[in-house]
Amino acid sequence: MANYGIDSEKSASGAARKAVTLRDLKARKTSGERIVMLTCYDASFSQVLDDCGVDVLLIGDSLGMVLQGHASTLPVTMDQIVYHTECVARPKPKAWVLADMPFGSYQESPAQAYANAARLMAAGAQMVKIEGGAWLAPTVEFLTQRGIPVCAHLGLTPQSVHQLGGYRVQGRDDAAAKQLIADAKLLQTSGADMVLVELIPTPLGRALTESLSVPTIGIGAGPHTTGQVLVLHDILDVTPGKKARFVKNYMAGAGSIREAISRYVAEVRSGAYPAPEHGFES
Ligand code: KIV
Repeated sequence: MANYGIDSEKSASGAARKAVTLRDLKARKTSGERIVMLTCYDASFSQVLDDCGVDVLLIGDSLGMVLQGHASTLPVTMDQIVYHTECVARPKPKAWVLADMPFGSYQESPAQAYANAARLMAAGAQMVKIEGGAWLAPTVEFLTQRGIPVCAHLGLTPQSVHQLGGYRVQGRDDAAAKQLIADAKLLQTSGADMVLVELIPTPLGRALTESLSVPTIGIGAGPHTTGQVLVLHDILDVTPGKKARFVKNYMAGAGSIREAISRYVAEVRSGAYPAPEHGFES
């Protein structure tokens, strides 16, 4: 019978693992220890990723693509993210649990965002992630003042894929790079405790990280961010079709899924991932 590890206090190695807190994650900004984040959508992988030492489990709306087969994240609903958050949280992972707010669940007003974020927190999330820049400052303030930690998602924001004209590198020109940093600073001032940045040039990933006091998490943003995130199905080579440049297949040469995930954890911690070929110089 499947063992979901409910109330398990030990990792696969048998060593006790302390619960990851927001305080720990924020301390990484100065300690230099990199934050390891991976997407996670179910109870079994929640336990495996936790055992392998992943710091943050992201219930990403990428589930619309990798679990449901949609061409974008846009069709994902609140009920679906609530369901997957409950699944991930049920084994009581020591890792921090971060849930995506899906398209249409926070854009209307801070009050709408709060009502939906509260559902995710009740489902087991410890932080929510929202996509967008300066226009979200009042929402970030509203949520954080009411006890909901927020991760701001900048750069390529997949929920705006049609407006952006595809999954393209963002912040390439000077004005766009300056705007991204200004937006991130405003969201930090408004209360965001973490900034996730997707698909931007490596030098901008560095400049952004140096401009903020909160941790940055990169995906296709080079090696200088405080941490890294990838989609689980991408690193396990399950996602069909052409891979994005920043994706590394950790199943290559691995004897098991646990070994592949442990290698990802070790390479993010050591800085071996991402290598220069996973980033965009300009
Ligand atoms: O939904 C997701 O998986 C994400 C990552 C791509 C960062 O937001």
